[in-house]
Amino acid sequence: MNSAILEKEINTYFDYNATTPMSETVKLAIIDSLSLFANPSSQYQKSLPVRNLLVSARQAMASLLNCDEAELVFTSGGSEANNLAIKGVLGNIPPGTGHVVISSIEHPSVLEVIRYFESEKGLAISWIKPDSSGAISASDVQQSLRADTKMVILMAVNNETGTIQPFYEVAELAQQHNIHCHIDGVQAVGKLQLNCHELQAHSLSFAAHKFYGPKGIGGLYIRKGCSFSPLIHGGGQESGWRAGTENTLGLAGLAAAAREAKEKFLQWQQQLLYLRGQLIAGLQREIPGILINGTQKSDQVVANTINVSLPGIRAEALAALLDVHHQIAVSIGSACSNNKASRRSHVLQAMGLNNERIDSAVRISIGQFTNEHAINHLIKAISTEYQALLALSMDMEVTV
Ligand SMILES: Cc1ncc(COP(=O)(O)O)c(C=O)c1O
Repeated sequence: MNSAILEKEINTYFDYNATTPMSETVKLAIIDSLSLFANPSSQYQKSLPVRNLLVSARQAMASLLNCDEAELVFTSGGSEANNLAIKGVLGNIPPGTGHVVISSIEHPSVLEVIRYFESEKGLAISWIKPDSSGAISASDVQQSLRADTKMVILMAVNNETGTIQPFYEVAELAQQHNIHCHIDGVQAVGKLQLNCHELQAHSLSFAAHKFYGPKGIGGLYIRKGCSFSPLIHGGGQESGWRAGTENTLGLAGLAAAAREAKEKFLQWQQQLLYLRGQLIAGLQREIPGILINGTQKSDQVVANTINVSLPGIRAEALAALLDVHHQIAVSIGSACSNNKASRRSHVLQAMGLNNERIDSAVRISIGQFTNEHAINHLIKAISTEYQALLALSMDMEVTV
């Protein structure tokens, strides 16, 4: 793709929570690693630079998460990391026993694993619902704990609303009761400054493609001293936690992305806060009835995400017109569950929003490549297509 086309593609992209474009630094790091072909587990000298690449990826990621290098296991991404954490703990308990406390707004890579244990192994579950701001409460978690609770599971940041969950508090609670706490950190890494040394969670998942790295690589932070079973058995890579020859290209990209996310965090944060403010103000000016889904408090939501309902229209119609007429990409729910036909967002439902509001909800997520020009273009396009859809629905009311 030539650079002008790529720039246009990126300027019309507003779905960074689904995945992020790779940065130039990340692309160069991957290109550099292409010539390193030896297997990192081999003993000869040719393997040394490949082993160094793995060491450097572990260092970069450990520095970003503020944990020890030995506490990281690399996986194929966020879904595998969530599966590893949950199956690793719950796989060891006898069928028909055990209880889990989990929020009802988790990603499918968490929800479906828990539903599997519920239906196949008789696991008992307490589902914690969020309030209308999209956040769950730590005291609800506390009240749901039981003597047989084996795990507490919570996402750090919700992928649909961007709402930051009380995950430090919940992890501390679980720790006090000696219960394994797993945090899905996939939407938080790069958007919040995480500190795994302070966070009292036992595990935390991440995926490079959410912070400008490549797809198909991610991992799990596993706190020192934590014991659970691996998902993939084999050659003993990743200290026995995850077998399989390492994804060296992916790790080269992840390392570069992690370094950049650490270095540029404040710069990106400032830019995103400004652009988010512009976007909200512009949409409120053009569409006075617009409703923001989730919290409006800027310290309780990540700076890149805005979920809005546009009264009187259907979100899929708006998204299709934005795509076809303007090549603009926005999401109408979690991209990961878009292939599940037209199910209403389980997150917005759990927040207690009515069906009309859910059906008109659009998620706009921005990132380091978004600029003011792109935001203005988006506001104009949404306003134009929104008015067109409203006019159409009024016409239909008249003719029917
Ligand atoms: C909160 C959350 N967890 C997990 C995942 C899954 O990550 P991956 O796509 O790397 O498997 C996603 C992907 O959107 C996510 O948003």
